[in-house]
Amino acid sequence: MKSVLVTGGTGYIGSHTVIQLIEAGFEVVIIDNLSNSKEVVLDRVESITGVRPIFYPYDIRNFDALRELFDQYDFESVIHFAGLKAVGESTEIPLKYYDNNVSGTVTLCEAMAEAGCKNIVFSSSATVYGDPASVPILENFPTSTTNPYGSSKLMVENILQDLQASDPEWTVFLLRYFNPIGAHKSGTIGEDPRDIPNNLLPYVTQVAVGKLEQLAIFGDDYPTKDGTGVRDYIHVEDLASAHVKAAQQASNFKGTNIYNLGTGRGYSVLDIVKTFEEVTGQSVNYKISERRPGDIAECWADPSLVAKELGWKAHRELSEMLEDAWRWQSNNPNGYDS
Ligand code: NAD
Ligand code: WQD
Repeated sequence: MKSVLVTGGTGYIGSHTVIQLIEAGFEVVIIDNLSNSKEVVLDRVESITGVRPIFYPYDIRNFDALRELFDQYDFESVIHFAGLKAVGESTEIPLKYYDNNVSGTVTLCEAMAEAGCKNIVFSSSATVYGDPASVPILENFPTSTTNPYGSSKLMVENILQDLQASDPEWTVFLLRYFNPIGAHKSGTIGEDPRDIPNNLLPYVTQVAVGKLEQLAIFGDDYPTKDGTGVRDYIHVEDLASAHVKAAQQASNFKGTNIYNLGTGRGYSVLDIVKTFEEVTGQSVNYKISERRPGDIAECWADPSLVAKELGWKAHRELSEMLEDAWRWQSNNPNGYDS
């Protein structure tokens, strides 16, 4: 049985990936410092898969703990989700983001190198494209960032590329996620923001469930079909499956492999609200407000490279993403505390 270490494995994307890794026959070891997730996720994973993942409440910045772990297990790969992701907070407390996301990854890589585990799958983001000159976005588009969160992702991309260039035994996947939404079909695993959500989908579902009063749509004067921002929303289950493929095929890959993980389709904020209302029968109270500083008009992927090289494609439609997000939110109005 192949062993894989999943950092940030009790988080939103990590937990969905852990389920699919277990279902694909991997032995999964999770480390997560629980700064943005809850241990009860492990119960939910166990009830879905019948297997309780091995869990350590470690921080990726703790080299000694990592060293012990790498001594104890023979990991073939590391899937590295652990990181902080609140864009607004990153502009207020940038050092926290550089310490956690950048220094944390350096420490993780040092422990991996010492142990001879040299396959890493890293959670990057479409944020590294900044405000793209055109859409759809290809992997070779120029990179730039507008906030410390984005800069931390780009720095880690550069660090991992430099590491790989220095030692060809490393295989690096830099997976640039577009906008992950949705939840596991069971309605027992999903996104559980700690505070008022920053992202669109949890905001919409929390308005629909009555936790929040009204959605503010940030601007209707963008040069898009209806004036609202357009994004490439991707089902978290599709996203998870790309990681399983990367872990399964890591030994066939060499070098640094950079892939867009998106569907290749863009939907506006109003498309999301209307489709959500149609598929769930819930109405969403909203108003149009000012643009949010730093937002771009449109962003969607050209996902053809990952289809060609990794054999991965997103399959789930927007209606399924929204149905699944709603099942999770309506079953768990207060997230994992419900
Ligand atoms: P999440 O916050 O739900 O999961 C991240 C997990 O990492 C959390 O469980 C948190 O407790 C853990 N963590 C944070 N710092 C840690 C540390 N120092 N040591 C150990 N554990 C730590 O976020 P998510 O949405 O699942 O995102 C996973 C990854 O994907 C992140 O790196 C994020 O930046 C990236 N990403 C997310 C999105 C998105 O929209 N959700 C988009 C692009 C990229
Ligand atoms: C989507 C659309 C908003 C909330 C962010 C990060 C990015 C990545 C994914 C991690 C936009 C509009 C939103 C609301 C709204 N994260 N919106 N009202 O901005 O594309 O990307 O999350 O890597 O780095 O920047 O996602 O979900 O915040 O916004 O009108 O209350 O919804 O303006 O058009 P975004 P989002």
